[in-house]
Amino acid sequence: MILETQNLSKFFGGLRAVDDVSLSFEEESITAIIGPNGAGKTTFINLCTGLLKPNTGKIIFNGEDITHLPPHKRVLMGISRTFQISNIFPGLTVAQNIRIPLLSRGDKALSELEELMKVFEFEDIKDALASEISHGDQRLLEMAMAIATKPRILFLDEPTAGVNPAEKHRILEIVMRLKETEKLTIVIVEHDMDVVFKMAERIVVMNRGRILADGTPEEIKDDKAVREVYLKGVEI
Ligand SMILES: Nc1ncnc2c1ncn2[C@@H]1O[C@H](COP(=O)(O)OP(=O)(O)O)[C@@H](O)[C@H]1O
Ligand SMILES: [Mg+2]
Repeated sequence: MILETQNLSKFFGGLRAVDDVSLSFEEESITAIIGPNGAGKTTFINLCTGLLKPNTGKIIFNGEDITHLPPHKRVLMGISRTFQISNIFPGLTVAQNIRIPLLSRGDKALSELEELMKVFEFEDIKDALASEISHGDQRLLEMAMAIATKPRILFLDEPTAGVNPAEKHRILEIVMRLKETEKLTIVIVEHDMDVVFKMAERIVVMNRGRILADGTPEEIKDDKAVREVYLKGVEI
């Protein structure tokens, strides 16, 4: 097990955005977190990556209590993420964007730039401004920046939001490839159920800050409570 939350909660005033969530993620696994808008998925990621401090509970990474560590320390330990809304430097080129996280690991890491360009299929756009590449490439660029920090666990918050179907397919192919080549643990929030049920080994369903169900795609597909709150009318 690489990361574990124990009775994790985050309250905003009276709202329980994340409510007593205990989850653990196995090494080199891929888990999808699904659930309606406002279920607490992004808040959960924000807690795991250190953007928010929990009201209750603990986060254990690799056997170590990281509950009170700031985000940059967690990144150095191997916890990385992408955001629901892309978080790149629009005025810099694709290559310059990726150099930033590489340099944070020291000059030597710069030798990985070429390989990253290949994995993300950026060779033809490496000198283009980040503001001028397609939306799908912007999402991939953010992912490349997260990978450049050499994470052991990567949280992807809706990596295909607002992306056209062809680009969506490409993004998800790259995610699956990265899982193998980087020996990554991936936790992905994604709304496209076709994608979720194809990609994930495990699906966690959140609703109102709580875990409604947790199981294999087969188990989740047939779960009554899940169908009731989330998969109503969805063909899988
Ligand atoms: N910074 C915040 N301040 C107040 N309420 C918040 C904040 N962030 C999220 N919330 C609320 O917490 C709940 C969970 O939000 P979120 O984690 O973004 O859900 P999801 O990602 O599943 O759509 C929502 O009701 C949202 O409005
Ligand atoms: Mg969200």
